[in-house]
Amino acid sequence: MRINKFLGTALAIAVASAVALTGCGGESKQTVRVSHTQIETHPDHVGLVAFEKYVEGKLGDKYDVQIFPNGTLGANEKVLELIKQGSVQFLVVSTANIESFDKLYSLFSIPYLFTSESAFEKFISDPKIMDDLGVNSKTNGFAPLAAFTAGTRNFYAKSPIRSVADLEGKKFRVQAGPTNVAMMTAFGAAATPMSFGEVYSALQQSVIDGAENNELALTDQKHGEVTKFYTYDMHQMCPDLLVGSEKFLEGIPEEDRKVFEEAAQEAQKVEFDAWHKRIEEAKKQAADMGVEFINVDVEEFRNKVLPLHEQLLNETPELKPLYDAANKANQGA
Ligand code: GCU
Repeated sequence: MRINKFLGTALAIAVASAVALTGCGGESKQTVRVSHTQIETHPDHVGLVAFEKYVEGKLGDKYDVQIFPNGTLGANEKVLELIKQGSVQFLVVSTANIESFDKLYSLFSIPYLFTSESAFEKFISDPKIMDDLGVNSKTNGFAPLAAFTAGTRNFYAKSPIRSVADLEGKKFRVQAGPTNVAMMTAFGAAATPMSFGEVYSALQQSVIDGAENNELALTDQKHGEVTKFYTYDMHQMCPDLLVGSEKFLEGIPEEDRKVFEEAAQEAQKVEFDAWHKRIEEAKKQAADMGVEFINVDVEEFRNKVLPLHEQLLNETPELKPLYDAANKANQGA
């Protein structure tokens, strides 16, 4: 499995490079590779198509933007290395996957940080917030250009979760990142971090009892085939960030960088719209797959992990200004 993925990556990059070199009409264009792990109907992909159109509409003579969906360039953890080297130029990645590089991104893993999706969307579309999150970009080797919504993350499992007690002692897949492990421990459950692409077979083979994600994991990743109970406990809202390789962005003319940044803003708008439509369809699709949606006493879940806020802020005091800004967005929403 790993070897195949590696060969797939090498092959995809070799093919893409060959295209860039041969080009057409003499002058070769620079290939701009954009990687993500979702399927082509996913809002992230729809947003990226708008990104490609915007860039090529303005600078199509210089850049050939190519989108690689379905993790064909590799799992996010691996593609991040390629981003740093500059051989892949853009990546859509959940903030949870990059908190080990930069603790500021762990902000979004704080459970129950936002009180509504509208507060969350307002917060992540504020350019000042993006600037604050990206303050260490030069050292990190990647910069956040725009945030896509990924809705609310909830638990889903092979047996129904109707209260916190139902989580106890169960194994849940979480995204890589220490905050998720702390959250699951606080819930009294066990965290099993693994890549997104590995979750279906882990559920099927009962290596884990459940996972946590938005509703699109049930349909797009087919987790609803092997997990029939989805519980609205609403524990996290983590955006998917469109990050650019610093090596690439620093190496192109300033006016070109501006076009890529504008394209990212356009992609965000398109992604938000696509999300709101797609999520409603996905809920119906999942119900048709036989998934039962369960409403619970959200306060019970929230109270269980609320002490984590203080603990996480004490461990990472540099989160405080962003944490306060999130609370302000909650009040204004
Ligand atoms: C969501 C999110 C992805 C993330 C995935 C996961 O699908 O949009 O960016 O990788 O969850 O749980 O790994």
